[in-house]
Amino acid sequence: MASIVLRGVDKIYAGGVKAVNGLDLEIKDGEFMVLVGPSGCGKSTALRMIAGLEDISGGEIHIGDKVVNHLPPKDRDIAMVFQNYALYPHMTVEENLAFGLKLRKMPKAEIQRRVVEAANMLGLEGYLKRKPAALSGGQRQRVAMGRAIVREPRAFLMDEPLSNLDAKLRVSMRASLNQLHERLGVTTVYVTHDQVEAMTLGDRVCVLKDGVLQQVDTPQNLFDRPVNLFVAGFMGSPAMNFVTADLVRDGIAFANYRLPIPASTFTDKPGLGDYIGRKLIVGVRPSDFEDARSANGHNEGWARIPVRVSVTEELGSEINVLFTIDAPPVMHKDALALAQDAAGDEADGSLPLGGGKSLWTARVNSRSQVRPNQDLELVVDTHNLHFFDPESGLAIGHPANVRG
Ligand SMILES: Nc1ncnc2c1ncn2[C@@H]1O[C@H](COP(=O)(O)OP(=O)(O)OP(=O)(O)O)[C@@H](O)[C@H]1O
Ligand SMILES: [Mg+2]
Repeated sequence: MASIVLRGVDKIYAGGVKAVNGLDLEIKDGEFMVLVGPSGCGKSTALRMIAGLEDISGGEIHIGDKVVNHLPPKDRDIAMVFQNYALYPHMTVEENLAFGLKLRKMPKAEIQRRVVEAANMLGLEGYLKRKPAALSGGQRQRVAMGRAIVREPRAFLMDEPLSNLDAKLRVSMRASLNQLHERLGVTTVYVTHDQVEAMTLGDRVCVLKDGVLQQVDTPQNLFDRPVNLFVAGFMGSPAMNFVTADLVRDGIAFANYRLPIPASTFTDKPGLGDYIGRKLIVGVRPSDFEDARSANGHNEGWARIPVRVSVTEELGSEINVLFTIDAPPVMHKDALALAQDAAGDEADGSLPLGGGKSLWTARVNSRSQVRPNQDLELVVDTHNLHFFDPESGLAIGHPANVRG
């Protein structure tokens, strides 16, 4: 096993695209690191540079205690798993698993040991004599993982390995991957554009945008303390709601609402006071709302905001309540980029919005009897509001953004 360290790594493709820009990243020995970000942000490029499949244009990559900049892939002792895993169709599962080891002229008994062990780990014992055509998508994907595991590499590099599977299978494969990592403890770098996958798999998650690292942190910290507007809007589903608001001494005002802010917020977020009398961007997570009726008392001090419900999405344990507020969408470039990315993903930006309105989402308890076109009183936990500078998009008071 090994740590993987990137120092100032650049990738400029022929033609001038700067796909990765000064990437600094330390992946600890045994850590599960996820690289996440929208399409084209440089995730695969970063991974392929670690693998040695792509030259690096600048900087240094270390695996273990060695600089590997000029080491060919086969000498880096890492195993890759891709989205489009190609199994050999004429070979059985067993032969597929053993193939790479045979090429390396490994002794038969050792090959057998590794194949059996990987098959057990992946629940493939019953399929060893089958050919890939007779396997389900999930089973094939497991064979692809198995081929990486039998090599017993120092690190796994995985590029969207689950994205060809249907949603249900992805969830169960995610659980298998978690177990696998727990058992093997092998350093893993895992690329996905799916932030849910990133949150559930990563010990830490590295968020990239346009080839530039935005934040590396635990899933919980990314969610609770995003460093900027982009990370705030990218991580979390449904996405964080944003609005441009006026900050006054004890609260914020936007649309026809005025929310009090707890005094502690100003001490928690150094520099926030400087924005009094000015505009800033406020972010509210859908999960920080509740239906005032089902909040029954223990949410005292939460601010109330009356809304008119547009749409409800019932998820069983929770309900997503979509409503509009009388404030124009935030025009910061990151907010616009996020909106575009989300529309590409789900294509649910189809609610007609009149000028000067924004669509917000609140996630409330399923006990709420809320229906579309009703008036609803929501409460919002004002302790968890997020504040961003309207020019830079940086989170106000975040330790990484507070100078000196
Ligand atoms: N071989 C190449 N030559 C030129 N440009 C490339 C090449 N490969 C990738 N790029 C560009 O580099 C940027 C990063 O691409 P990359 O494949 O790393 O993105 P990604 O984050 O993996 O995206 P996705 O989520 O769509 O897989 C993109 O702008 C892409 O068009
Ligand atoms: Mg990619």
